[in-house]
Amino acid sequence: MTERYAVIGSPVAHSQSPTIHARFAQATGQDIAYDRIEAPLDGFERTVEEFRASGGRGLNVTLPFKQAAFRYCEKLSDRASAAQAVNTLVFADRILGDNTDGIGLLRDLEGNLGLQLLGKSVLLMGAGGAAQGVAGSLADAKVARLVIANRTFSKAAELATRFKPAVAVRYAELEGAFDIVINATSASLAGDALAVPPSVIGKNTLAYDMVYGRDTAFLQAARRAGARCSDGLGMLVEQAAESFFIWRGVRPATRAVLASLRGDPD
Ligand code: ATR
Repeated sequence: MTERYAVIGSPVAHSQSPTIHARFAQATGQDIAYDRIEAPLDGFERTVEEFRASGGRGLNVTLPFKQAAFRYCEKLSDRASAAQAVNTLVFADRILGDNTDGIGLLRDLEGNLGLQLLGKSVLLMGAGGAAQGVAGSLADAKVARLVIANRTFSKAAELATRFKPAVAVRYAELEGAFDIVINATSASLAGDALAVPPSVIGKNTLAYDMVYGRDTAFLQAARRAGARCSDGLGMLVEQAAESFFIWRGVRPATRAVLASLRGDPD
């Protein structure tokens, strides 16, 4: 029998997750259907309950509901507890919550982009939901240095305390180039540039924007500085693969799916 999953968010119309999961299901022979569900901003729990009551088996949760999903779950994985955010719900005897964003970023950096995090210097910009979702994985990746910077410094300081050995530094006080600079702010969505000293990005830096599908001001500046650049499409595919594995117990291959989303020939 076809088992049902979906991504829930607001807005969700442009989510690529249904395409990605349909490709995974086809490649692994899993009989699933995967839809989009737009929930009203004040109706997350009600919408999830309806889906669950109608036989739904699990959900991906996207903006702005990841914190609401964290509060809604009856049992949390360690990585969801650390992130205080949930992007994957499993409807079993109890409602289980996990977070696959951090592992998705790591797999994109290490697997798709071929970068070893061990011993690298990493700058994570932002301290909102997107940054919280990945800070734990970066802190656990044995990087040489993890710096968190944010427009509102107190939030970066709070995050650095939670995700040791990260340290918080003010944007204006950042000095020297990092191996990897990750933009986890929502400034890209607003089309804003970040008030970061240009010296943080050098020719050997990987500039990574967690947003996908647009050439952000951050990536444009990094490209002008001669840095290698990546958007967050690979992270989207990798976090989806981990969710698929949690639900179905089968790990789908990601490379061809990512290539086809990028419009490259398989
Ligand atoms: P998300 O879930 O996408 O992380 P969020 O929780 O609202 O969204 O957090 C937005 C992040 O982007 C914050 O780190 C925010 O900085 P502040 O904490 O100072 O608000 C950052 N951000 C948004 N617009 C920004 C801008 N124009 N310049 C710098 N940082 C910005």
